[in-house]
Amino acid sequence: MFCNIDLESIDITKEAPQTEPERQYYFMAKAREYVKALKKEIGRKPTFSVNTFGCQMNARDSEKLTGILLSLGYEEIESEDADFVIYNTCTVRENANVRVYGRLGSLKPFKARNPHMMIALCGCMMQEPEVVAKIKQSYRFVDIVFGTHNIFKLAELMCNRFENGKMTIDVWEDTTQIVEDLPNERKFVFKSGVNIMFGCNNFCSYCIVPYVRGRERSRKPEDIINEIKRLVADGVVEVMLLGQNVNSYGKNLENPMSFAELLREIEKIEGLERIRFMTSHPKDLSDELIETMASSKKICKHLHLPLQSGSSRVLKVMNRKYTKEQYLELVDKIRAAVPDIALTTDIIVGFPGETEEDFLETMDVVRKVRYDSAFTFLYSKRTGTPAAAMDNQIPETVAKERFDRLLKEVQDIAAEVTGKDAGRIMDVLVEDINRQDSEFVTGRLSNNSVVHFKGGEELIGKIVNVKLTEAKGFYYLGEMTN
Ligand code: SAH
Ligand code: SF4
Ligand code: F3S
Repeated sequence: MFCNIDLESIDITKEAPQTEPERQYYFMAKAREYVKALKKEIGRKPTFSVNTFGCQMNARDSEKLTGILLSLGYEEIESEDADFVIYNTCTVRENANVRVYGRLGSLKPFKARNPHMMIALCGCMMQEPEVVAKIKQSYRFVDIVFGTHNIFKLAELMCNRFENGKMTIDVWEDTTQIVEDLPNERKFVFKSGVNIMFGCNNFCSYCIVPYVRGRERSRKPEDIINEIKRLVADGVVEVMLLGQNVNSYGKNLENPMSFAELLREIEKIEGLERIRFMTSHPKDLSDELIETMASSKKICKHLHLPLQSGSSRVLKVMNRKYTKEQYLELVDKIRAAVPDIALTTDIIVGFPGETEEDFLETMDVVRKVRYDSAFTFLYSKRTGTPAAAMDNQIPETVAKERFDRLLKEVQDIAAEVTGKDAGRIMDVLVEDINRQDSEFVTGRLSNNSVVHFKGGEELIGKIVNVKLTEAKGFYYLGEMTN
């Protein structure tokens, strides 16, 4: 269900309301009239394509954009040869950025053929003034540019573009506003991301996210709980609570509340089976959270705990606010309380000034923790961050050589670790028909490991017992037992 707002009953001959979300309902009703006229002119339903780069936060934003476009009367298609194309961009590393420009260039011929086509760019990249300047200068065929703080305004910006025919640019530097109750269309019927907070206050010295996502803002617990209850009523059994640093949830609320307290409230929601969350900053992970995870029946046995570097010296320059020893102690504490928990991480290689000794400290942590999996990144210089101005940048060849060594270590360990449950019978949430063999389905264990087993479409969204018959390195083969 993407929209339960009665757009027909809105009088668009009146002035637009000033309060949100009513103002957006008004513009959705108005934009719908433009879309109806377009449909008449082209003799078919106008189409759209939303393309997401970056993290789960962006993926959730894209579901909101999709919900708005469906309620305006567009039809979703896979191809980018559509009447309305959105790129929801990421700028966390340079390569994410480069990919967007490449893809944008390939849209130009579509636009030349289709005079009705509109192209919108939004997301983290658009929060950078240099990017917007480049779009204005070199990508004149783009119609709408907006940022991370005002994605809820899509319909209003579209009306603007329909009315004046010019490139519409609306990027806010920051916001304190959280607009609730807009449409959204989930990618999966049985699972959903749920934002619990926006922005980040940590300013890790390499990271651009605080600059493009603004300051930390927590949603009210009642808004989160109500959203999850609605999702459960609509078939969702698993939620992923989203925030750049979920462990600092609730600190800036009028009535402060800890993340662990929020989790305990969410646990009470009947019909909800699994709770995941992302991301946990090690510096803010409390004993209360560990206890809550240990006693919960619904919180999944998986914790993503970004390390970034294993060298206390580098961690200090990164402004991470923990040492190698504190991180390892935290891991021990978590494993003691939740013995079968899967741990995953993010690691950056080649941060300015990283020596071979620093790098070996990272390898040491990897060997000690034995992660179930790890995302490894080559350090990427982001303009405006403190690390970008450091004069001891590492040559790419050195960073690449370390990266390859780390990747091999991480993969060798992960292949051993993820096989450890072979032979057990475990709960699997079935997610999809297997892509290689349609007689098989694919699902996930509580610890996030992937399992393939024989089964049909009717199992999608169900939790079933599966015997893990064979460990295949990064996944299991299994047999359903119920
Ligand atoms: N808020 C999350 C991370 C969000 S960004 C956290 O603190 O864990 C996801 C990952 O991208 C980070 O964990 C980091 O490993 C990586 N990353 C961020 N900035 C980067 C940069 N400039 N170069 C390389 N990797 C980076
Ligand atoms: Fe970036 Fe650090 Fe914030 Fe994560 S916690 S988003 S790495 S600044
Ligand atoms: Fe990228 Fe923005 Fe997420 S920069 S990683 S999409 S918060």
